[in-house]
Amino acid sequence: MEKTLIILKPDAMERRLVGEVLGRFERAGYDIVACKMARLSPALLREHYAHVADRPFYPSLEAFMSSRPVVIAVLQGAGVIAKVRELLGPTNSKNAPAGTIRGDLGTDSTVNVVHASDSPESAAAEIRRFFKPEELV
Ligand code: PPS
Repeated sequence: MEKTLIILKPDAMERRLVGEVLGRFERAGYDIVACKMARLSPALLREHYAHVADRPFYPSLEAFMSSRPVVIAVLQGAGVIAKVRELLGPTNSKNAPAGTIRGDLGTDSTVNVVHASDSPESAAAEIRRFFKPEELV
């Protein structure tokens, strides 16, 4: 069964949006098969965001993502990778339509509520990065 990794970002934590966001994924029919809280270190973030680490916005992204503990989870279900990205809307919350998570709850390109894997390859790598195999139920 397909799996994806999500991170509820510091804005979701500060604004107590965890239940709202996880509820949208559950109502779409997906199961939570792993979940934990952690404060992400700069080293781990540099690995996770290696594809944007040389972009001008990276220092502010790292500062934001390490600013408070986040919820990291694995969701499972048919087509979950693409469907979760669809439910999120585009990276820039300002371009996200009403009804999407970022359109309803996000602020901009950095403060955008949730990270989600964008392909089967990144989902597999990201799940391995944040969870041991035995942590998935
Ligand atoms: S890109 O540009 O397509 O490679 O970026 P993307 O994979 O969509 O985004 C990777 C993360 O970088 C953040 N991001 C930005 N922050 C600030 N300013 C700008 N312009 C910007 N573009 C992307 C964004 O929050 C993405 O985080 P995740 O966790 O992947 O949503």
